[in-house]
Amino acid sequence: MSSLSSPCASSEVETPLGSARTPGVPTCLDTSGIRGQFPGLTPGWHYLDTAATAQKPQAVIDATVNAMGRDYATVHRGVYARSADMTLAYEAARRRIAGFIGAKEDQVAFVRGATEAINLVAYAHPRKGRVLLSTLEHHSNIVPWQLAGWEVDVCPLTADGRIDLDAAEKLLTPEHNMVAFAHVSNVLGSPLDVARAAELAHRVGAELLIDGCQAVPRLPVDVTALGCDYYVFSGHKLYGPTGVGVLWSDKLDALPPWQGGGSMIDRVTFAGTTYAPAPTRFEAGTPAIVEVIGLAAAVDYVQAIGVATIHAHERALVGSLRDQLARRNSITLYGPENSAGIVSFSMAGVHPHDIGTILDESRVAIRAGHHCAQPLMEHLGVAATARASFGLYSNDDDVAALIDGLARVERIFG
Ligand SMILES: Cc1ncc(COP(=O)(O)O)c(C=O)c1O
Repeated sequence: MSSLSSPCASSEVETPLGSARTPGVPTCLDTSGIRGQFPGLTPGWHYLDTAATAQKPQAVIDATVNAMGRDYATVHRGVYARSADMTLAYEAARRRIAGFIGAKEDQVAFVRGATEAINLVAYAHPRKGRVLLSTLEHHSNIVPWQLAGWEVDVCPLTADGRIDLDAAEKLLTPEHNMVAFAHVSNVLGSPLDVARAAELAHRVGAELLIDGCQAVPRLPVDVTALGCDYYVFSGHKLYGPTGVGVLWSDKLDALPPWQGGGSMIDRVTFAGTTYAPAPTRFEAGTPAIVEVIGLAAAVDYVQAIGVATIHAHERALVGSLRDQLARRNSITLYGPENSAGIVSFSMAGVHPHDIGTILDESRVAIRAGHHCAQPLMEHLGVAATARASFGLYSNDDDVAALIDGLARVERIFG
């Protein structure tokens, strides 16, 4: 393995936007104990694909096993004690998850994931019109708007791969009803100045939807302080189960229901149906009971470590990896210096899929492809990139294994 100086030296960390420093937050986590709590992290395997989906701590696995076994029952309907207990647990989970993002519980609707949350807003919104997206959006923050019939405008990026808010300011007009941006890019790691984006959107009378998929596991998020109108994320990227995600808004009551069925109603007759208040009216059918309980356990786990600490830890690893990649002539690096937890790169003359396949032989797992961001690939002038992404359990050994593996790729391709 390459010898590395630890990136974890400073006792101060940068804030999410890298513009100021917050004293007193430890910059690195002791991952030796943490890794043992993640059964998916088998010894000797270097998992650098956490932006795709995070490994799960035993606490989350235990919570879902108990919810599906010992404690299992439906919610909201049962008159028997087990169901009443499960209902209490489900609603307590909503409170804990809402608290995690600085929200009130009745502002949080459970959906299947960020993709479904964006579809919900795009389809249910009573004022479908013009939406401003950006070049770096994930397909799940592009295609729903197109399918639901919105007119789409595109905000360009700065040279270092951030959403160019000066350009957004010029592009926005009173014709725009919505701005929808990623809080952190899943390819470049670029963090967004959400407060400024909110100010720009609101100035022209538009609302702001933030795709927080890559941000909630990496940056402290307080939706009230951010000033956005909708915030969405997926549980599985936050160390929780698949099949559950969150739509937050402080104006959910202004949205009509999207999907109909059981649970979301007030009264049903053939003459007409009235609906439950938000958030229940957005949870048609039996909800993802087990997954919601698991997500609350994930939130507890992350909060016990502290998102600011996780952010500092991942920034130190990103800094170390970017420095070492920058020293290799074969490598082109994408994204800004202050990228949050994610590093995209390419190697001259080698397809990213070959990089990924050869690294896999060294037990290093990265992502290679267009990362569900084809317009961004077109902007970068590439078909694909290689992407390494960190989680709270990543460490210097993972970085060293990646660098050693890339040296091997260079040798193989001459
Ligand atoms: C930035 C971003 N937005 C949205 C999504 C979609 O998330 P999901 O597939 O969990 O709905 C992802 C997943 O990769 C993402 O990284």
